[in-house]
Amino acid sequence: MGQRDVSAEVPNEASVAEAVATALAAIAQAATTAELSAAKYEHNGDKSFLGLANRAIGGLAPDERKAVGLLVGQARGAVNAAIAERAEALAAAELAAKLQAERVDVTLPVAQHPQGAIHPITAMLERVGDIFTAMGWEIAEGPELEASWLNFDALNFTPDHPARFLSDTLFVDPPEANKLMRTHTSPVQIRALLERDLPVYVVSPGKVFRADEYDATHLPVFHQLEGLAVDKGISLANLRGTLDHLAKAMFGDDIDTRMRPHYFPFTEPSAEVDLKCFVCHGESVGNPDRPCRTCRSEGWIEWGGCGIVNPRVLAACGIDTDVYSGFAFGMGIDRTVMFRNNAPDLRDFVEGDVRFSRSLKGDAR
Ligand code: DAH
Repeated sequence: MGQRDVSAEVPNEASVAEAVATALAAIAQAATTAELSAAKYEHNGDKSFLGLANRAIGGLAPDERKAVGLLVGQARGAVNAAIAERAEALAAAELAAKLQAERVDVTLPVAQHPQGAIHPITAMLERVGDIFTAMGWEIAEGPELEASWLNFDALNFTPDHPARFLSDTLFVDPPEANKLMRTHTSPVQIRALLERDLPVYVVSPGKVFRADEYDATHLPVFHQLEGLAVDKGISLANLRGTLDHLAKAMFGDDIDTRMRPHYFPFTEPSAEVDLKCFVCHGESVGNPDRPCRTCRSEGWIEWGGCGIVNPRVLAACGIDTDVYSGFAFGMGIDRTVMFRNNAPDLRDFVEGDVRFSRSLKGDAR
């Protein structure tokens, strides 16, 4: 369009001025950067009037060359300057349009994608696992569907022990298979002793099952932590020190433990272990003005059972009881998390409302 055949004529002021005017008009009209490139190609490209005029300069007589060269050079310079200016304006306009189109209305409601939370029991199990692995203990696992022999017999439960009653234990059909849902994590002690070389230092966190009511303080499925150390020269002092360390790591340095004599078939002597109440530190005892909900003003909270491993248990696993001795302990994790967090109802732990886990921040502390 508007191209002129320059081969026949020498560019002159009028023809160059006309070409510049046409070019500037096309540049001014370009509404997009793409249209501007097209205008540049058409009016200042190699095959445009000005492009060809530029090429023709070399063939002119020397006396014409200087004037025509100046004329064409200035014309092309003007066109290029106009292109650059228009390019800048178009780029700015295009950016403004893009920003406008992609504008985000921060006042609009956003889609909610609520995050989950680590369950407080999981958090506590991991924490306890960390405390023991830091001391060089290993984590041992056992199945939830367990052989009756491992759950009871090997742990020195007599054949008529009440824990074996159907009212307490969930047996699994067929009866002759002698399988049950483990009632405690203690069978992992036997598995660890049968599978590992001595000395053995293991903790075993896991689910246990009992034919219990489902209410604020009982769940038919709950969690225990089992601990077992078998080595040469193990004594009650080692047990006491280990439980004290666990209590302090979980509840703080100012926490004490105490042991009360008790009976378990698989430990001798046996004890129940209590924690000094970490809320009132015993100050609620005999002090009606300062009642404590956490320990019911008793100053101590029942935490679990423990003792020196009964030599009969070691012997059942083929261990020389003249050389080796051990200690064991077991405690309920759900209860520990419950009183650690002042959670009043154990059912909240299993009802799956993420607000509960989030309120404890997935943090068992
Ligand atoms: N297994 C016991 C229970 O379920 C807890 C327990 C007591 C475990 C004493 C032990 C222990 O290892 O030594 O009540």
